[in-house]
Amino acid sequence: MPAIKRLGTVPSDEFCPNVVTIPRPTKHFRYLNTPTGDWLGTIDGESLQVFGHVDDAVIWDATATGFKHVVTGLELTASSTELNATIDLFQDGSRISVTEQDTPVEKFAIGHGPEQLPSKSLQTLNEQGWVSLTCILPDEVIDGLQRVGCVDAYEDCTPVRQTPLAQDPSVAQVSAEPISLWLTREYMKTKDIRLGHSPGISALTRDDGVREVQGWHTDFPYLWGTGDRIPVPSGDLVLGMQRNVCVSDFTKENGATIFKLGTHASNEAPPEEWGISNHTYRKGFRATYGLPYGGKEADLIEAPAGSIILYDARTWHRAGMNMTDRRRGAMIQAIVPGYIIPFMDTSQTVKSFFASDAFNQVTERVQKEIEKLMVHKIAGPAGLFAISTDDELTQRVREQRQAAASVY
Ligand SMILES: [Fe+2]
Repeated sequence: MPAIKRLGTVPSDEFCPNVVTIPRPTKHFRYLNTPTGDWLGTIDGESLQVFGHVDDAVIWDATATGFKHVVTGLELTASSTELNATIDLFQDGSRISVTEQDTPVEKFAIGHGPEQLPSKSLQTLNEQGWVSLTCILPDEVIDGLQRVGCVDAYEDCTPVRQTPLAQDPSVAQVSAEPISLWLTREYMKTKDIRLGHSPGISALTRDDGVREVQGWHTDFPYLWGTGDRIPVPSGDLVLGMQRNVCVSDFTKENGATIFKLGTHASNEAPPEEWGISNHTYRKGFRATYGLPYGGKEADLIEAPAGSIILYDARTWHRAGMNMTDRRRGAMIQAIVPGYIIPFMDTSQTVKSFFASDAFNQVTERVQKEIEKLMVHKIAGPAGLFAISTDDELTQRVREQRQAAASVY
């Protein structure tokens, strides 16, 4: 990890970051999904089984006559190789039948897979602290997210006042996107992960030249530069990941996030001289000091809509500014180990989701994953409990804080 040069002359209006442009992939692998949304795969290249998560074992490549397992080379023939088709599969001339929940499964759906093997993405994430899952989302999910966010083709629509997760199945589908979750579990070395807050879609509008802007910071739960929640560096213990979903294309012009890539390994806060969020949100900061640092030591990641940028929450970054007239959609999601107190209570949102039509429009796998990700729990000597906020105690702590504030 090279030393980060600390600059003494910023913030300024200089904007010439190093631009990392992620190209649109020319091809994607395929999933072979069961009706419950699980994945057909193989470990030994001979026997097929159903998996409840995605890693290299379930990645297939389309061939002229069917599918080839990317890692082992096992070849299957198929009644169709068209994306989203429901198909019959054959191995050495025999129809494939697997058992799931005591029921035989003989029909499989062809799903949109990643552009590279999950193990390759994990290697990149481990090496550099971030990875792009480029165009990982299927077109119909991107369309649903743009509709909920009122961006791109839906710019003229009015946002609906209902939690996004209950509005459209795409919000649950992106929240349960399996490779970003597998990578997060591997990187944080725990299967027990949670969303730090409920999923939401933001639309960045054109910068007006005067409003206060986000400064440099690290994400939840560290929040160095914007609240400083974790008191000391956590070293090998990773307390948070951030998943940025590009709902629209992310470009230099429309406000793609600006990072200092690699800084997760420094285990330090961004330098104050770069303009940190603790300062930049203060009224008058921009007029006095200009914008947070955007010079050539910073990295801006451009990526096509439907991509996920997954990064270690300690990576220094700040929001970009939109210089176009088009609203730019994003879904910014903190993911934490189950032992971290969440940033916001997700219990009401997940209950709204359970009661919504959107719940019935996603697979059983997505339903289960959302429940795992959004029901925070206490597991202790007294048993297992779901956590949510308590109105009475909330009132009490707020009154206490109010009283304390009034003393000083
Ligand atoms: Fe952030």
